[in-house]
Amino acid sequence: MRLISFSDWNAFLTCLDGLLDEPQVQIMRSLPHHPGVNCYEHSVFVAYVAFRLARRWNLDYRSCARGGLLHDLYLYRWNDQSAHPGLQCFDHPEFALRNASELTDLSKLERNIILAHMWPLALHLPRSREAWTVSLADKLCATAEVMGVWKRLKMRAVLAA
Ligand SMILES: [Fe+2]
Ligand SMILES: [Fe+2]
Repeated sequence: MRLISFSDWNAFLTCLDGLLDEPQVQIMRSLPHHPGVNCYEHSVFVAYVAFRLARRWNLDYRSCARGGLLHDLYLYRWNDQSAHPGLQCFDHPEFALRNASELTDLSKLERNIILAHMWPLALHLPRSREAWTVSLADKLCATAEVMGVWKRLKMRAVLAA
């Protein structure tokens, strides 16, 4: 499938219903996530890939887009030990869920998408095909970012404008 098409992009934005402009979401631009990629760029990338996969697989693509965007809304520097009590791997989905819940009304499905995205590294199990899809998208995007594929795809200009 083509990664970006204009009609899909508009449908994607419609699913997010203004969430991209929320100050809490914009804060992610200032937080490094993977080398050369900030948390906002990563989150939009995951949300879009999950949205595309969910549409292809006839799943709840709106929840995948919303859950994908908010899955890493932990809002602290990942290496700041004073910001969270334990291991980042376990802590950040819990912080993301708390922040996302304050930002918008989350469905039970969306809450599990956020909480379970780190499976199998963290303990919460994905309980829907949508949660599995976002977890898969997260791993695909993280791999693309760490390997530098992100830069070659010129995704920044498209996804994080
Ligand atoms: Fe994460
Ligand atoms: Fe992530």
